[in-house]
Amino acid sequence: MQLPYAEPFKIKMVETIKKSTREEREQWIKDAKYNLFNIKSEQVFVDLLTDSGTGAMSDKQWSEMMLGDESYAGASSYYKMKKAIKDILGFEYFLPTHQGRAAENVLFSVLVKEGDIVPGNSHFDTTKGHIEFRKATANDCTIDEAFDTTIQHDFKGNINLEKLEKVLKENPAERIPMIIVTVTCNSSGGQPVSMQNMRDVKALAGKYGIRVVFDSARFAENAYFIKKREAGYADKSIKEIVKEMFTYADAMTMSSKKDAIVNMGGFIGFKDEDLFKQASVFGIIYEGFITYGGMSGRDMNALAQGLDEGTEFPFLESRVGQVAYLGQMLKDYGIPIQEPFGGHAIFVDAKRFLPHLPKEEFVAQTLAVELYIESGVRAVEIGAILADRDPVTRENRFPDLEFLRMAIPRRTYTNNHMDYIAASLKNVFDRRNEITKGVKIVKEAPIMRHFTVELER
Ligand code: F0G
Repeated sequence: MQLPYAEPFKIKMVETIKKSTREEREQWIKDAKYNLFNIKSEQVFVDLLTDSGTGAMSDKQWSEMMLGDESYAGASSYYKMKKAIKDILGFEYFLPTHQGRAAENVLFSVLVKEGDIVPGNSHFDTTKGHIEFRKATANDCTIDEAFDTTIQHDFKGNINLEKLEKVLKENPAERIPMIIVTVTCNSSGGQPVSMQNMRDVKALAGKYGIRVVFDSARFAENAYFIKKREAGYADKSIKEIVKEMFTYADAMTMSSKKDAIVNMGGFIGFKDEDLFKQASVFGIIYEGFITYGGMSGRDMNALAQGLDEGTEFPFLESRVGQVAYLGQMLKDYGIPIQEPFGGHAIFVDAKRFLPHLPKEEFVAQTLAVELYIESGVRAVEIGAILADRDPVTRENRFPDLEFLRMAIPRRTYTNNHMDYIAASLKNVFDRRNEITKGVKIVKEAPIMRHFTVELER
């Protein structure tokens, strides 16, 4: 008999979570203005809001915390992190930052100017936010297959090279500060980019003299999919695959709260010393001196250890396997989801789940509210609310995909929790025809409104 995969760890410490009643949740979500970000964590039973900073650190990472060097300059923790980044990712220079968007802020302060165009694959919302904040434009060149959740494609995160070349051809090179390759591509469903696509993008970028920057939050999950799906990589280790991936990047931004399995932290990796020096100026202003940049010494230590653990095959097999376990259950129940399953999350296709609701009533947000009321599972809308208004016309943007994302924290929940989540969503699915009203916006911020938006049913 084939042995099932089992977690390559055992549990040493637990944290209590509490169930609540439907009546309590109905009141709480109303008080929270139907915004799941306003719900207290103690009002949540299974928290799938994000896989960012919510993973469980290992005994080795906690040991590293004790060894942190909190010196302002030249801390040994900085050098530990530097070595891990060089050894595992291959970047000679780096700047620590407090998280991923801070890395974007520092790097884009050097690179992005008003009127610029930044092509890429479904830029994450903070990435797009930092581009648009500088009055530049993010141009999405993701392959079309990504936008149809029913199509099977091994690498739905891929960049369409024709779309990309069109942007590169039609705009002067000085208007294109970089191409951003997001690995894995969060916004399109935790979908990976193939090694071939990275190679091709780098070659095309080289032809036009444009640099390539990887948004690397989930680079290790991307490497896992390459190993499992791309010809020629089955026998390579995750670390070998990761090394090759980053040969196609000139720089990288990293939210270490994902694949480096820490609660807080990020960095920018550079191949080029000159760009590193220019970015250091902004790093110092925004984040702190270059040897800590917004991070404690102990956090840099835990990050270095996490980079190593996060790029081990047995960990990734159980991590991505758990997400697929949930995905398969939902699929068996007939619930429409993005396929193939994502690396960090299952993305429910809200438009196919609630086809009778008009898009103006924010379908995925409605589904998030219903799921929370059903069982205390907190997931997140990746749809029209997140998409914000068009910065020029101020009209609502309605993206092709309206997702309810259920992100699975690393090493945190068991498969019994996955069963609970699946049953919860199945119950909502069974009563979907009774959900006849969505939500409307009462108050919103001008940018990144999803965090603070106030809604009414
Ligand atoms: N890039 C990607 C692909 C991300 O998914 C995120 C964060 C960031 C950049 C920004 O990193 O949060 O450390 O500032 N994603 C989280 C999520 C918030 O829930 O997917 P950050």
